Amino acid sequence: MWFPVRLACLGGRAVCDRGFVGAILQRPRRREAKVSPFSHSAGRCAQTCQALVYRKHGDPSRVVELEDVPVPQTGEKDVLVKLLASPINPSDINMIQGTYAILPDLPAVGGNEGVAQVLEVGSQVKSLKPGDWVIPRDAGLGTWRTEAVLAEDDVILVPNGIPLLSAATLGVNPCTAFRMLSDFEDLRPGDSVIQNAANSGVGQAVIQIAAARGINTINVIRDRPDFTQLCDRLKAIGASHVIKEESLRRPEMKELFKTCSKPKLALNGVGGKSATELLRHLHALIFKNVKVRGFWVTQWKRDHSHDGRAFRAMVDDLCSLIQKGKLTAPACTEVCLQDYEKALGAALQPFTSSKQVLIM
Ligand SMILES: NC(=O)c1ccc[n+]([C@@H]2O[C@H](COP(=O)([O-])OP(=O)(O)OC[C@H]3O[C@@H](n4cnc5c(N)ncnc54)[C@H](OP(=O)(O)O)[C@@H]3O)[C@@H](O)[C@H]2O)c1
Repeated sequence: MWFPVRLACLGGRAVCDRGFVGAILQRPRRREAKVSPFSHSAGRCAQTCQALVYRKHGDPSRVVELEDVPVPQTGEKDVLVKLLASPINPSDINMIQGTYAILPDLPAVGGNEGVAQVLEVGSQVKSLKPGDWVIPRDAGLGTWRTEAVLAEDDVILVPNGIPLLSAATLGVNPCTAFRMLSDFEDLRPGDSVIQNAANSGVGQAVIQIAAARGINTINVIRDRPDFTQLCDRLKAIGASHVIKEESLRRPEMKELFKTCSKPKLALNGVGGKSATELLRHLHALIFKNVKVRGFWVTQWKRDHSHDGRAFRAMVDDLCSLIQKGKLTAPACTEVCLQDYEKALGAALQPFTSSKQVLIM
């Protein structure tokens, strides 16, 4: 018998061990990144740009360096882009550490997400023109750089009227939140979802997309000195409830469920005890027909790469929410590319509640 109750896991042990939760999740198959930042486009090198390069895996603060790297000539089906902004996500850190499910050939340019402006298009490029804003379709592009030559098919157009930070952080976390709220359960207005790491980029997108659909969110975060301010910030973007991890085992949860339905879906980005505590509160847990699913947005994008319509439709939906003011970028700290050491250091710190975004 099927009970509409699920726990979806998107990662585990947050910053320290970003591997997928082995005991309950399928680990994604290791694949090579599609694009090597040094070898893409066989054309002659016309110029150089600046890029954050790592030549071996290890501690990002030790192995990442700002270098001049070649920019190949723009091929017939290529676009020359100027990167505008690119976040530092946990998966970027794990790629540099060598612990992520996909690892580009070394040397590699860091970064998988970001927004770029098209400067020049090849003679056979149909869908893009100079001035357009684009984001990567897949992981592995190496976005921590000032310029790149990319295949037309490697990027997707986004409106250039949306805020820069929204565009720069659109392709990974809001897409992950969108899929998890769309594909696991038939969620209706008034239903509830519970999630941990609710102040993460994914968590903030879950809060806002759920609120736009009339879905309640119960948001679990770690306690901290500025808990009240963070709680207020999450409520201001649409969080129904914000609670501390330790509250999950306390009687106050009974009070909460007097005014809020039991969650149909639990979203876990932490793993371990935090994940099992979420499970305890799922609707109909007593019947134990809880289903646990792993989710990896990169796999979703690859599974849908043969037909770009599903990705296009999702990006259009998300951009429409952004344009209506219903989906804002996560709290961000903007850092010049040249100050990358500071940004990488901050990205590795707990309790920052702010996404580091490199500005090129
Ligand atoms: N599977 C997928 O497709 C997919 C896609 C996107 C993201 N993710 C994963 O989802 C998670 C969030 O990504 P993001 O980019 O949104 O992250 P982010 O904005 O960098 O935020 C990191 C989050 O992890 C929390 N955290 C760190 N260490 C923790 C610990 N030991 N215990 C509990 N919480 C901890 C932080 O909470 P504090 O403020 O308390 O430090 C914060 O909420 C990451 O694990 C990421 O790898 C998976």
